[in-house]
Amino acid sequence: MPLKFSLNPYLEDRDGVLYIDGVSSLELVDKFDTPLYVLAERRIRENYRRLYEALRRRYEKVRIYYSAKANTGLSVLKILESEGSYLDAVSPGEVFLALKAGFTSDRILFTGTSVRNDELRYLVDSGVTINIDSLSQLRRLLKIHVPEVLSVRVNPEIGAGHHEHCITAGRNSKFGIWDADVVKAYRYAKNAGVKRFGMQMHIGSGILTIEPFLLAAEKLLNIAYHIREELDVKFDFVDLGGGIGVPYKPGEKPLDIDLYAENLIKLYVERINEYDLGEPWFCIEPGRYIICDAGILLTLVNTVKTTPFKKFVGVDAGFNTLIRPAMYGSYHPIIVANKLRSKDEEVYDIAGPLCESGDLLATGRKLPKISEGDLLAILNAGAYGFSMSSNYNSRPRCGEVLVKDGEYALVRRREHLEDLLRGQEIPSWLR
Ligand code: LLP
Repeated sequence: MPLKFSLNPYLEDRDGVLYIDGVSSLELVDKFDTPLYVLAERRIRENYRRLYEALRRRYEKVRIYYSAKANTGLSVLKILESEGSYLDAVSPGEVFLALKAGFTSDRILFTGTSVRNDELRYLVDSGVTINIDSLSQLRRLLKIHVPEVLSVRVNPEIGAGHHEHCITAGRNSKFGIWDADVVKAYRYAKNAGVKRFGMQMHIGSGILTIEPFLLAAEKLLNIAYHIREELDVKFDFVDLGGGIGVPYKPGEKPLDIDLYAENLIKLYVERINEYDLGEPWFCIEPGRYIICDAGILLTLVNTVKTTPFKKFVGVDAGFNTLIRPAMYGSYHPIIVANKLRSKDEEVYDIAGPLCESGDLLATGRKLPKISEGDLLAILNAGAYGFSMSSNYNSRPRCGEVLVKDGEYALVRRREHLEDLLRGQEIPSWLR
């Protein structure tokens, strides 16, 4: 039977055990150990297609740039490449991985902030499209190379997001170019010989209502209009960024994707006609929406500890493996993968193995009675899970498995203790 905790239809309860697209979670941990990220390929494809089709039905020229930072696994990139996705990269490393996964450079848009000159050189040599974030970056880029096509990241002064750290536009944001400087950027680029242009924004992440997207799009298209008026620049594409949220907490409703597409495309088409902007590609850059609910983190219970105040469940994944709860106070659904039919009867704090009091994956969570050796599944862990993991406390990073219709394959082996030595040298005087 399907699980009530997730929108992912490939999560199933078979006799009380969690199956992920036909594969037993118990078999996976038996084979690959814990902590273990599991990704369901069919869910990734489904999420991509649902969004693409909702937009494409309403406007011919649509591009989805998968935001790789959410999950840069090579297999994930390959899956999206095969779907026809474009890619949003924020570092030379993401460009490198995308190229390795088969994306051609014309399908990659680089958006960086505080970019080094040697990184700009790498981007130019790779042939990706660059979305500039500051006049300083633009000046330095044009000294290296004048590209045929260039995009400018605009701060539309409207930001939104699930946490202060995830709001990427507005007065306090370090990202994008402020209104008054936008025209300077395009003028400078045009005079230098750039022929074709894009305009981009990204207002924030984890947004579950349509209004902020509409308000910011209205602002951005208006800025595009002024640029066209002033400089006679035509836009190849307008990129409204990522940010579509997904429900994590009970009671949170998913964003209605049809309504999102309907409203946003309607506004887009009206404004590009009204402002005589031609027919630029309509672009967005979702990360979380594509990959979040396709990923599950499996973690083993080591310890159950009771104090006069709390019941702690000690597991083998901490904020080294999944940092979102510690970093943003984020809620992730947690289930006991081997006891899906047991009644919730105890309230626990779920604690990781790190020597930090903040290393908690959840607090005050009502779950079935948990024993050592039980397996917890942390849901909605596909986005910003592995990609934000670390080696803190000298813990090797965990492995990743891809599942598809009863089949599975290890796509990233877990690190070993030896990996902790990689790249380290002992100076001669300590030898
Ligand atoms: N485009 C740009 C330029 C971005 O900076 C981001 C995310 C995206 C697209 C994709 O946003 P999404 O569709 O995934 O919301 N670590 C945080 C999220 C940080 C997002 C940073 N930028 C979290 O775990 O919630």
